[in-house]
Amino acid sequence: MSPATELTEKPAVRLALLGCGTVGTEVVRLLHEQADDLTARIGAPLELVGIAVRRLGRERGDLPIDPALFTSDALGLIKRDDVDIVIEVVGGIDTARTWLVEALHAGKSVVTANKALLAEDGGTLHDAAAQGGADLYYEAAVAGAIPLLRPLRESLHGDRVTAVTGIVNGTTNFILSSMASTGAGFNEALEEATELGYAEADPTADVEGFDAAAKAAILASLAFHTRVTAADVFREGMTGVTAGDMASAKEMGCTIKLLCIAQRGSGPDGDETVSVRVHPAMIPLTHPLAGVGDAFNAVFVEAEAAGPLMFYGRGAGGRPTASAVLGDIVAAARNKISGTRAPSESNYAKLRVRPIGESLTRYHISLDVAERPGVLATVAGVFAQHEVSIATVRQSGRADDAKLVIVTHSAPDAALAATVEALAGLDIVRSIASVLRVEGGAG
Ligand code: NDP
Ligand code: HSE
Repeated sequence: MSPATELTEKPAVRLALLGCGTVGTEVVRLLHEQADDLTARIGAPLELVGIAVRRLGRERGDLPIDPALFTSDALGLIKRDDVDIVIEVVGGIDTARTWLVEALHAGKSVVTANKALLAEDGGTLHDAAAQGGADLYYEAAVAGAIPLLRPLRESLHGDRVTAVTGIVNGTTNFILSSMASTGAGFNEALEEATELGYAEADPTADVEGFDAAAKAAILASLAFHTRVTAADVFREGMTGVTAGDMASAKEMGCTIKLLCIAQRGSGPDGDETVSVRVHPAMIPLTHPLAGVGDAFNAVFVEAEAAGPLMFYGRGAGGRPTASAVLGDIVAAARNKISGTRAPSESNYAKLRVRPIGESLTRYHISLDVAERPGVLATVAGVFAQHEVSIATVRQSGRADDAKLVIVTHSAPDAALAATVEALAGLDIVRSIASVLRVEGGAG
């Protein structure tokens, strides 16, 4: 008798799957393909006892499962006595929250990929897990296949994380990488991303930064032991990045990425704070995130003792995301068998989330100005009035028009924003062609 056969004599850990779309389908496939290895690793077999979907009649191809497992009654499935672990790969907020709170209160562990719910109201889920004595795992919710949340939640708990900087949205990384390599504009690159199946029919959540902001909230909560929600995250999308911005970045030895940035810092009173923001930014080509192309994700973590750490891989797609879900299922199943629990939520630090105005950053500002004596001095004076120090100025001129590209030193975002507003009010400034934040030693 093989070790795996011996183990199958132990009672099965019973799974309810909510959702059988892009991710759920691949979860089913991996559970089937890896069944013997999973049994050996867990110490008991996994048994899928039900799958909740919206459309019972939907064609589901060659999925290796008994069609009788499907139901459209997700809540009924969760409440069944023969369910130990609930896997949620549906998405959405209100209904999913009701389902997961029900499961957790009943002591059933939850594995979810639902970043929107975790970022909006992860606290409710963590509280329900604590009350029900159940596990809450969500590795797939941020950066798909990349093992990232477990390192933050466990491996780095002896250290002090100072910053997490990441490319956590594959669609926008594909668009920006394409703009950088081909010189295309945003619309053209978005069209290509849609044709290749990276961008969804409605790309708003990706290009406006909502998806990345949800992931930023989850990362910041784990890294800084503080509940951070999507509403705490400053968010600016990347639809305004032009081919001209990309060309200007190139001239400076930089590229442009949509970054999620979560940093430990201090507020005006010296109190310890965190800042969490998502926006396009120029970074030098030498930065570890600059070479992350195509639809890949990467997250750069800095911790006091560990130093810099880089996590890289596929941030989306059915099979890569299902890999992360499976890892969580194994962890939750092992805990069920051994009667142990996952590490509970750590939110003891309760750091203040500082508003964007207090964040220290640098700006790259491109201005079309009149070409006459004193213009540069007037523009420089506006920066001085707002206590913003200029790092570099480049001028290219035509007859009576000139283009000024100014990169600042680090200053509070509020001072930089006020500087731009004041520049816009000068009659010598014909237009402000672009304003981009600069990160990572660029400029
Ligand atoms: P899909 O839209 O492909 O699948 C959603 C599934 O949920 C479908 O099977 C659908 O049923 C089912 N469903 C919808 N409403 C209900 C309901 N009321 N009751 C029961 N079932 C329902 O989504 P994805 O697989 O792409 O995403 C799932 C989750 O994973 C989301 O939270 C997403 O953010 C997250 N995620 C997705 C990634 C990806 O690459 N796709 C990457 C990382 C995270 P039916 O099949 O009948 O329509
Ligand atoms: N739309 C997301 C992306 C999917 O492009 O990265 C993963 O959350």
